[in-house]
Amino acid sequence: MKFTYYGHSCFAIEVSGKKLLFDPFITGNPLAKDKIDINTIEADYILVSHGHGDHVGDLIAIAKRTGATVIAAYEIVNWVQAQGIEKAHPMNFGPFNFEFGELRFTPAAHSSALPDGSYGGNPGGFLLSTAEGNFYYSGDTCLTMDMQLIPRYSALDFAIMPVGGNFTMNVSDAVMAAEMVQASKVIGVHFDTFGYIVIDHENAKHAFKAAGRELILPEIGQSFEV
Ligand code: NI
Ligand code: MN
Repeated sequence: MKFTYYGHSCFAIEVSGKKLLFDPFITGNPLAKDKIDINTIEADYILVSHGHGDHVGDLIAIAKRTGATVIAAYEIVNWVQAQGIEKAHPMNFGPFNFEFGELRFTPAAHSSALPDGSYGGNPGGFLLSTAEGNFYYSGDTCLTMDMQLIPRYSALDFAIMPVGGNFTMNVSDAVMAAEMVQASKVIGVHFDTFGYIVIDHENAKHAFKAAGRELILPEIGQSFEV
């Protein structure tokens, strides 16, 4: 699977020949807006964890240009369809078999209002199980005991988790989360974008290493095989 980082919690994963884009937020991100041209991003599907502006900021623009199918909570799908996006797949907590693999929308302990104040339904994360491999993106959440269910569904190749604290898990929470979901490799997101979530990168990597796990803090614009 190829992973590309666009800053904050926005990333793409190529799997089963499809391009999946997660939580598009670039033009409003002071760290990403000069590094990433949103008009160059390709997507077959756009997956949205919840309705906050730092996860849907560029959703409508990218969905319109690419014609990608938006996958999100039922309430978020209603919101995108009201803005002229026709290709959308509503979910709530549960699994569905897409052409790229089995996607399970999983609970997150967070909130989910859309930028105009509309109700965004439940906030969540995604567990994707495919012939090429399996990964879990928790979305914005604190550490929850529900994460212990993840390895019952799927043996993970890696997990993607917020590590910035304040609004979500911090590094030490994410170390515990990695143990619960049984991920030896974690890609950290939701860090450094705003003052509240600036982290020390070396300390964060050491904390994971001390727990026998690997933390990757990707550079904006970086792509790698995972
Ligand atoms: Ni949020
Ligand atoms: Mn967020």
